[in-house]
Amino acid sequence: MTTNISFLLNGDKISYEIKDHWTLLHLLREEMGLIGTKEGCGNGECGACTVIVDKLAVNSCLYLAIEIEGKTVETIEGLASTSGALHPIQQSFVDNGGIQCGFCSPGMIMSSKALLDENPDADREEIKHALAGNICRCTGYIQIFESVEAVKGMGGQND
Ligand code: FES
Ligand code: FES
Repeated sequence: MTTNISFLLNGDKISYEIKDHWTLLHLLREEMGLIGTKEGCGNGECGACTVIVDKLAVNSCLYLAIEIEGKTVETIEGLASTSGALHPIQQSFVDNGGIQCGFCSPGMIMSSKALLDENPDADREEIKHALAGNICRCTGYIQIFESVEAVKGMGGQND
């Protein structure tokens, strides 16, 4: 069965014919070609697929695409400015060693953005809590926490 859904994706109005069983991750990556959002475990355990839906960080592998009707979706592709400048959170991850292989980074950055949009002055414990669902096999997490701390207070905005 298919359904036509409308939603806002990185500021653009989207209307898309979806199959009702598609996940949001499938819609983004396989149908729309937005491969910045990663698929790791596929079952809600790694956070690699994290995107923001109506200001909340969600695992897109567990989120049915049909549920985004009328909602606002932000993915990693929407963060850099139109001139190509990285979002302050992306730049901070680069500057503070928060990225090694990069596989977890889109999810880490989207979880961080959801946190800082809500709480620009989040402390270390709040950052740890917000990123508890995001797994990194490379960095040991300290550089990731430092990356988020370095950008907090900037409001997580790039515009
Ligand atoms: S791919 Fe969604 S949580 Fe791992
Ligand atoms: S940087 Fe490699 S998994 Fe996090």
